[in-house]
Amino acid sequence: MKWNLSSDQMPQAWFNVAPHLIEPLQPPLHPGTREPVGPDDLAPLFPTALIAQEMSAEPWIDIPGEVIDVLRLWRPTPLVRARRLEQALDTPARIYYKDESVSPAGSHKPNTAVPQAYYNKAEGIGRLATETGAGQWGSALSFASALFGLECKVYMVRISYEQKPYRRVMMETWGGNVEPSPVDEPGHPGSLGSAISDAVRDVVARDDSHYSLGSVLNHVLLHQTVIGLEAKEQLALAGEERPDIVIASCGGGSNLGGITGPFVPDADVDLVAVEPSSCPTLTEGRFEYDFGDTAGLTPLLQMYTLGHDFVPSTIHAGGLRYHGDSPIISNLVKTGRMRAVAYPQGKVFEAAVQFARTQGSIPAPETSHAIRATIDEALRAKEEGVERVILFCYSGHGMLDLGAYDSYIHGNMVE
Ligand SMILES: Cc1ncc(COP(=O)(O)O)c(C=O)c1O
Repeated sequence: MKWNLSSDQMPQAWFNVAPHLIEPLQPPLHPGTREPVGPDDLAPLFPTALIAQEMSAEPWIDIPGEVIDVLRLWRPTPLVRARRLEQALDTPARIYYKDESVSPAGSHKPNTAVPQAYYNKAEGIGRLATETGAGQWGSALSFASALFGLECKVYMVRISYEQKPYRRVMMETWGGNVEPSPVDEPGHPGSLGSAISDAVRDVVARDDSHYSLGSVLNHVLLHQTVIGLEAKEQLALAGEERPDIVIASCGGGSNLGGITGPFVPDADVDLVAVEPSSCPTLTEGRFEYDFGDTAGLTPLLQMYTLGHDFVPSTIHAGGLRYHGDSPIISNLVKTGRMRAVAYPQGKVFEAAVQFARTQGSIPAPETSHAIRATIDEALRAKEEGVERVILFCYSGHGMLDLGAYDSYIHGNMVE
C-alpha cells in the first residue's frame, strides 16, 4: 500500500513546464511603467539564479548537489494507496496520494524554501523576508534559513497569527522573527496580498535582504516538480501505467503545479485544481494583469484574480486565501489543459474527517480541499462503474490545525 524510492532515486533535475504550455506565458509588467520587466528590475528582490529560472525555457534545470543533500533529509516522500478510504467509499477507483507532510515543516513548502535559501546564500545575501498565511511557508523558510545560516523575517497574516500560535513557535524555534500583518493596521485580519506588501517594503529598504515567495512564481512551481517526478516513478512501481486524474488544492498554485507539472505533456491525464468557494480565484476570477500584493508594489502578473484589494473571509485554510494565482496555473486553466472546482469549508472538513477515520492521518485544511475533490471523483467513478486511477497531493498535515477540527466537530464552524 506504500511505495518508497531510495534516497539516490531523488530527481536530479527539476521539470520546467513552460515549454509545454499550449500558449506561451506573457511576461510580468513593471508596476510603474507597465512595460515587461527585465532581470535588472527583479534584482533588488531575488538572486540572479532564481531570476534566470523564472524566465527559463529550458526543459530541465539541474538541482544543485547541496540542495539535494538537504532535501534528502525527508525526500523521496512516500506514495500511499488510500485503500481504506476506497473501501469506505465502495469505489472501483484506485486512490493514491503523495505524502508531502513528512517534511520537517509538515508540508510541501520546504521543497522550494531550501533552494531559495541556498541560491540567496550563494549570492552573498544574509537575510530573507517573506509573508505567510497559515504559517506553513513561514515555517518552511525559517527551517531552510537556519540550515543555510540566514536571518529570516516573516510577516504573518494576522488572523492566522492569532488562530495558529504554534506555527509561530515553530518559526521562532528555527530562528525566524515573526510579526503580524498588516503591520500598520492592528485591527485588520490581513491577507496574503497585504503580507506580501509588508515583506517587499522591508527588503527594498535594506541592502542585505532579499524577498522570498512561497508560491505563485514560475521558479517556485519548478522546485515543486520533485513531487510529480517522484510520483510518476512510484506509480510505475505500483503497476499503474498513468493516473487518469491528478488533483491538488490551489492557493498560489505551488503544490498543484508541482504534482501536475510533469503530467502536463500527457494529454489524456485530467488535471484538477481545488479552491475554496470563499476565495474562488480560478472559478470566478478574471483573467488579466494584476498586482501580486495589495499595495501594488510587485510586478503585474497575467493571472486569474479577484482583484488585489480582495479580502477573503477568515476560513481555516489560510494558505488558500490569495486573490490571484500562479501565471502557469492560470495559463493551464485558461487554455483548457486544467479544470478548477470550488468547495465550501463545511464540505471540505466532512471529507477531512472521513479521511482521518479511514486512513488515520489528519490533513491540513488546505490539503482537505484536494481530499474533497478526490472523494467526489471516486464516487463519480462508482456511479459510472469505471476503474479510475486518482492521484492527489497530500500537501500537509493538520496537527497544528486542531482548533479548526474542534470548531467543525462541535458544530461551531461558519461557512
Ligand atoms: C498544506 C498546504 N497545502 C496547500 C497550500 C496552498 O499553497 P500552494 O497553492 O502554493 O500549494 C498551503 C499554503 O500555505 C499549505 O500550507
